[in-house]
Amino acid sequence: MKVVLTRKIPAPAEELLKNAGFDVSVSPKPRVLNKEELKNFIVGADAVLSLLTDKIDGEVMDAAGEQLKIIANYAVGFDNISLPDAMSRKIAVTNTPGVLTEAVAEHTFALILAVAKRLIEADKYVRSGGYQGWEPELLIGTGLMGKTLGIIGAGRIGSYVAKAGNGFGMKIIYQDVHPNPEFEKETGAQMVDLMTLLSNSDVVTIHVPLLPETKHLISSGQLGMMKKTAILINTSRGPVVDEAALVEALKNGVIGGAGLDVFEDEPMLASGLTELKNVVLTPHIASATIEARSAMSKIAAENIIAVLSGKEPLNPAQ
Ligand code: GLV
Ligand code: GLV
Repeated sequence: MKVVLTRKIPAPAEELLKNAGFDVSVSPKPRVLNKEELKNFIVGADAVLSLLTDKIDGEVMDAAGEQLKIIANYAVGFDNISLPDAMSRKIAVTNTPGVLTEAVAEHTFALILAVAKRLIEADKYVRSGGYQGWEPELLIGTGLMGKTLGIIGAGRIGSYVAKAGNGFGMKIIYQDVHPNPEFEKETGAQMVDLMTLLSNSDVVTIHVPLLPETKHLISSGQLGMMKKTAILINTSRGPVVDEAALVEALKNGVIGGAGLDVFEDEPMLASGLTELKNVVLTPHIASATIEARSAMSKIAAENIIAVLSGKEPLNPAQ
C-alpha cells in the first residue's frame, strides 16, 4: 500500500511506515506543495500524511483516488482539511493531540513573558550598542504576579497554560463552550463569559480551534472591551483574531501589547504589524520542540498503520 508524506518531517514516521511494509514516498520539495503539485503527488495513495499548510478539499481527495483511506494531519489543528468531504468519501482524518500540549503552552508563556518583560526590545537595545549603564527607568515592563490570566478555550493546551499561570501567581478566569470542573479544581479557574473575560484580564490567551464560530472571535469590538494595558496572545490559529483590527488597537493604545505565533493569512502579515514595538512575532513554531515534533511524527504514522491494517483510527478528528 502506498503512503505519501507531503513533506519531509522529523523522525520516526518514515521509518515506522517503511517497517510496516508500506511503499512510502516523501515529497522532495523543501516547501509546501501548491494544489496542482499536491494533487499530482498523492495519486494512488492509500494514506496521506499531511501538513497544516496543505489545503485538502474534496477535489484533492478525489485526485488521490478511491483507495484513499486516511489523511493523517501532522498537527493538532485540522481546519486545513474539509471534514464533510472526507466523511462523505469514508476517509478517516486524524490529528496529533496530547503530545504538543506542553510545547504550545510553553511557547504561550514565552510570548507572555517576552511581551510583559519587553525582552525582544531589550535584546535589540543591547545588541545595537544602546546600553550605556543601569538606569532606573530603562525598559520598564509589567509583572504577572497577582494579575488575571484570561484563557479562551480550556482544552488540553489552555489547561496547561493555566497551570503555568498558577506558578506565576496569576488568577485564572476562562471561557469555553463547556464548563470544565476538573480544570477549575486544579487551577482555581473561574468560568466567565467572553465579555467579562476580556474586560477583566491582564493577559488574554487563545486556545480554541479555528471553526466558523471562532473566526474573528477577537475583532475591534472585543479588543475595545480589553484593558488598555492588556496583552493578547495567540498560539491557536491566525483567523481567530481580526489581525487588521489588532494592528489598529495596538497602534492606538486600545490594548497594551500582543504576542502572536499565528497569522490570519500565513505567511503574510497584516500591514503595519512589523512596525509595532509592542508585539512579539514568531513564525508558527509553538509546537516546534524536538520532543513534540517527534511525538507528532510517531502518532501520525501510528494512525496510518492502524487504518491501513483495517483498525479504527487512534486519533480521529471527526
Ligand atoms: C499546530 O499549529 C498544530 O495544530 O499542531
Ligand atoms: C488541543 O490540543 C487542546 O485541546 O488544547
